[in-house]
Amino acid sequence: MLKVINVVGARPNFMKVAPIVEAMRRRATEFAPMVVHTGQHYDARMSEAFFRDLALPEPDAYLGVGSGSHAEQTAAVMQRFEPIVVAEKPDWVLVVGDVNSTLACALVCAKLGVRVAHVEAGLRSRDRTMPEELNRLLTDQLSDLLLTPSPDADENLLAENIPRERIRFVGNVMIDSLYAQLEHANRSRIREELGVGRGTDYAVVTLHRPSNVDERAPLERILSALEQIGARLPVIFPAHPRTLCRLEEFGLMERVAALAPRLRLVEPLAYLDFLRLFSGAKLILTDSGGIQEETTALSIPCLTLRENTERPITITHGTNRLVGTDTATITAAAFDALANPRESLPPLWDGQAADRILNALLEKQD
Ligand code: UD1
Repeated sequence: MLKVINVVGARPNFMKVAPIVEAMRRRATEFAPMVVHTGQHYDARMSEAFFRDLALPEPDAYLGVGSGSHAEQTAAVMQRFEPIVVAEKPDWVLVVGDVNSTLACALVCAKLGVRVAHVEAGLRSRDRTMPEELNRLLTDQLSDLLLTPSPDADENLLAENIPRERIRFVGNVMIDSLYAQLEHANRSRIREELGVGRGTDYAVVTLHRPSNVDERAPLERILSALEQIGARLPVIFPAHPRTLCRLEEFGLMERVAALAPRLRLVEPLAYLDFLRLFSGAKLILTDSGGIQEETTALSIPCLTLRENTERPITITHGTNRLVGTDTATITAAAFDALANPRESLPPLWDGQAADRILNALLEKQD
């Protein structure tokens, strides 16, 4: 029986850990799972709502670290996670993705000599100004088992001299959640609530990267593009708390409000509401990592408002296009994507990744 601590910290972690914990509970003779929530995300809409929608069990421990500078947040997670690992003596600690909690917990374990498995290993944007890229690079160096979502990730790890026996290509576990929850999402009335019910074409936008929202200029360029796209079809904009703060700070709220109802700013949505909303969209504009993958899995055109992506497979095998933050480029790409949708699926994005992850843990244990 393997005792595994599963770490969650921020919004994009929950949908990756949920199917893994669910599979561990189903295979209860082989696995004894625990869930530790670092509290990096703490607003009900950024955290609790996801536990409910994804049927994640209550965390066994909640570390309550909250917000802070990168150093403060990373250090707080380390300090509060270490005593749990020491007390629980797990066989494995499983971390996912690339947030500060991921690196902090991997580092604690590496120093204690406790084995770490990293889910979503090997992704690289090659942009070291992104905090997530540093988290990815370091977490992969520290982990004993690197579970990759796509073949490009294996290649990246091998190029960094990580031994092949530490790497397992298991596919994309976030897509397990997506497929498992699609039907449940039909119960959501979010499309009707937002006035984009049956038969209405609409787009969805999400923005939260510091490089897009922490300065006024890129945020304004993106808003100008949304204005033009909004003239063609309504745009729904569920905004991350950081983005809402910046729009206020830059005095841009009035401009956004003036674009209603063609651009509708709403609070962050829970998992099932967001799934219901974006699965009916004709177009998504985003700077999120996960949404690039979810749109590929559902064949929805996606424009990524960044200069690079750590998920190139969503471009080579999916619906994603990198467009940056230039107004004219975004607008032209939006109209082209609406006219010429694409469709194809990367290998092992089949809803079965969680069981492959569990099998890899068992194999590596021997
Ligand atoms: C984090 C991740 C990012 C991920 C994103 C998804 C890192 C380095 N970044 O970025 O990779 O794509 O989550 O959402 O780990 N805040 C709240 N309520 C919350 C959480 C945050 O109001 O529940 C506000 C706070 O003002 C905080 C700010 O958002 O200072 C940023 O939160 P933080 O966790 O530092 O980073 P994210 O931008 O959310």
